[in-house]
Amino acid sequence: MGFLSDALGRIQPSATIAISRKAADMARAGRDVISLAAGEPDFDTPRHVRDAAIRAINEGKTRYTNVDGIVELKEAVARKFKRDNGLDVTAADCFVAAGGKQVIFNALLATLNPGDEVIIPVPYWVSYPEIVRLCDATPVHAVADASTGFKLRPETLEAAITPRTKWLILNTPSNPTGAAYTAGELRGLAEVLMRHPHVHILTDDIYEVLVYDGGTFATIAQVEPALRERTLTMNGVSKSHAMTGWRIGYCTGPRLLLAGMLKLQSQSTTNPSSISQWAAVAALDGPQDFLKEWRAVFQGRRDLVVAGLNANTGLDCLTPQGAFYVFPSVRRLLGRTSGGGARLATDEDFVMALLEETGVALVHGTAFGLPGHMRLSYAASNAQLEDAVGRIQEFCSKVS
Ligand SMILES: Cc1ncc(COP(=O)(O)O)c(C=O)c1O
Repeated sequence: MGFLSDALGRIQPSATIAISRKAADMARAGRDVISLAAGEPDFDTPRHVRDAAIRAINEGKTRYTNVDGIVELKEAVARKFKRDNGLDVTAADCFVAAGGKQVIFNALLATLNPGDEVIIPVPYWVSYPEIVRLCDATPVHAVADASTGFKLRPETLEAAITPRTKWLILNTPSNPTGAAYTAGELRGLAEVLMRHPHVHILTDDIYEVLVYDGGTFATIAQVEPALRERTLTMNGVSKSHAMTGWRIGYCTGPRLLLAGMLKLQSQSTTNPSSISQWAAVAALDGPQDFLKEWRAVFQGRRDLVVAGLNANTGLDCLTPQGAFYVFPSVRRLLGRTSGGGARLATDEDFVMALLEETGVALVHGTAFGLPGHMRLSYAASNAQLEDAVGRIQEFCSKVS
């Protein structure tokens, strides 16, 4: 018997974190690196949110709190869901955890048994299948590739459902593709789900505020209220308020599920940081007007990156509706050789050669379940993005 658990043996470390670390090591060694591998806004946490945290510290709000969050934050979360998503919920229907990731982790660990299936559209955020496997359940991959704009089609969903399906995980706008579902597209999926009452829906709306071109965000429990009783709507302040390090995620869902999640969290991390919770109250209740500016900046960066990647490089990049990622195809350049002599057989070869030869760090599509692609995060300054796009173009021009 080994020391490390079977559960640990079922999962992979995060590829995005691994590549970010390699890029950081190269930078420390003096290389000129531009890392577009990580998924975090480059803006500062807004001033009024930082001030609320400092006030909380000085007022001694530094003790344990309720496991699932202070009432003030759960009330702010309920107001947010009502205001932005038309979900008529109270604080008792809301739950706070140390990041959106802990919400997902709690929900899956609280519900999955060996043999249970979780439908995950491909490409996916790296953590979904790993958490499912950690729970000894089975990820079922449903293809949502470039041919459908990286969105799950109702017929693909229908074909993936079996009597063992426990959850469907949706993520809109998406990491890694930036694809955002319209209300109409969600309605199509909801129609399928209405025919399969044993399937629960976990929707990861963490990029909600980042929808471009005047588009409107939609979430499935709002589009089809009949699904509310089996939907966990997850969100957080990490991306919306540039608070990735503060670790606050939240959700609303069926009370039976929330009670299970509370039981788990009470025996693991207990409450999320009290100081971060008070900051999150300020984030959710305070002014949201800065978001308009952030959106405009991100949209400009998206346009810069998409145009640059499609400029006769051999890459093929769709224009995403949201988040801060693009997910171009590198297929036309595979099977060839880089300027530095590296054989580019796979997307991983491609991003590794790109990093070695240009210092630009991206993540290969295979890490997200879809080979032949790569993910670029444009949560970086315009100057860095222009520099990176220039280096990518030069790298591509030397592939032969
Ligand atoms: C799709 C998606 N969900 C959840 C998270 C995790 O969010 P948090 O930092 O709140 O745990 C991320 C972070 O990268 C993400 O991209």
